[in-house]
Amino acid sequence: GIKVVTIGGGSSYTPELVEGLIKRYGELPVQELWLVDIPEGEEKLNIVGALAKRMVEKAGVPMKIHLTLDRRQALRDADFVTTQFRVGLLDARAKDESIPLKYGVIGQETNGPGGLFKALRTIPVMLEIATDMEEFCPDAWLINFTNPAGMVTEALLRCSPLEKVVGLCNVPIGMQMGIAKMLQVEADRIHIDFAGLNHMVFGLNVYLDGENITEKLIQQFLSGEKSGVTMENIVDLGWEPAFIEGLKILPCPYHRYYYQTDRILDEEMEAAKTKGTRAQVVQKLEADLFELYKDPDLAVKPPQLEKRGGAYYSDAACRLIHSIYNDKGDIQPVNTKNNGAIQGIPADSAVEVNCVITKDGPKPITVGELPVPVQGLVQQIKSFERVTVEAAVTGDYNTALVAMTINPLVPSDKVAKQLLDEMLEAHQAYLPQF
Ligand code: NAD
Ligand code: G6P
Ligand code: MN
Ligand code: MN
Repeated sequence: GIKVVTIGGGSSYTPELVEGLIKRYGELPVQELWLVDIPEGEEKLNIVGALAKRMVEKAGVPMKIHLTLDRRQALRDADFVTTQFRVGLLDARAKDESIPLKYGVIGQETNGPGGLFKALRTIPVMLEIATDMEEFCPDAWLINFTNPAGMVTEALLRCSPLEKVVGLCNVPIGMQMGIAKMLQVEADRIHIDFAGLNHMVFGLNVYLDGENITEKLIQQFLSGEKSGVTMENIVDLGWEPAFIEGLKILPCPYHRYYYQTDRILDEEMEAAKTKGTRAQVVQKLEADLFELYKDPDLAVKPPQLEKRGGAYYSDAACRLIHSIYNDKGDIQPVNTKNNGAIQGIPADSAVEVNCVITKDGPKPITVGELPVPVQGLVQQIKSFERVTVEAAVTGDYNTALVAMTINPLVPSDKVAKQLLDEMLEAHQAYLPQF
């Protein structure tokens, strides 16, 4: 049978993963699910773990749920390890988002200065996990969700001995679902050629039943005030029609931070005054979710979880594990080593691209050069990601300042330094390398 270990098991998203595993038990017999957390997360782990046990029992599936704070013990002989943890919890995210706003900069926990700091906090922990895996389950696959997933995957590919590493995000599947809903068709009739980086991915072509509908779709996409393709955590302002017509490919929701910087900043400044930053909104959502999870009569994933940005993430995780386990050879967008698939991005870097999924892992489908209008931004973000990984691993101040300054959301070297200093101070407890 299959043993899955989930690090950050106390996450409020865990019931979605459990639901996904229950649904697929026939083809993917996961007999053991180990949920791992740390002392700060123990209360959440116990609540969500008890719900997971009720879900499994109600479904009548022989999957045993283990709860533990002992990561090394849990990892022993694992087949798949999924990671979904948050170093410093939501309080750290609140700082990532609110400190930059004081300087008129979008914080963004994956793409902006917030993403830089989330990477600095997370990458050292992830590399320790990789070391433990080498020792206790060297043949296991590591499937990473922990954000910033692109940079975390980059660090694992370049700075750890693990080879069996895949990064996952729900944005591609979310775009597919959004388009299917817009066209009122089943999602499996839609195919998208994805290429780029995590939270910097483009849909180069969209097909309905094999027919290329990209141009038609772009017209439809632009006819309303909202694009209809978004995530719960990103405001859907709609795109300037002539821009997208000219671009001829589909941006992902995270491209708003780059192509609509001033508009998004205005929205975030306004939101911070009223409902708070996204971290504060999520803190309330999470508190409500855990109240629901405590109900001993609840034995399914509650629909309220759909208010979180991570919708469908368990579908992405389960279908990936399923295809590796069953050597399926189907196509899925994942974060993996580029190996020449996208020209102009280093071969050893992580890219988010459609891959054929086999028992030996993802095989990226060759893309060649990205379209000229987006090529430069993708390369710039890859530079930011690589410099960030170097800063995370070395703890070098100047390297961190270079990363901050070359992020397109940061206006100057001076602002970058002020931001860096204030954020280093605020996050000190979680940055032992600095
Ligand atoms: P959360 O704040 O609930 O954190 C999850 C758990 O991680 C907590 O219970 C916490 O105690 C635990 N944790 C913290 N440090 C840990 C450590 N060193 N070892 C083990 N556990 C640790 O977070 P969340 O909102 O559920 O999100 C979890 C992670 O998944 C975040 O990094 C988030 O950005 C990411 N995420 C990614 C995607 C994606 O598309 N890739 C989608 C949704 C969420
Ligand atoms: C999207 C992204 C995730 C991100 C999440 C935030 O789904 O793909 O990588 O973590 O949204 O959602 P939240 O509800 O935490 O704001
Ligand atoms: Mn086994
Ligand atoms: Mn994501």
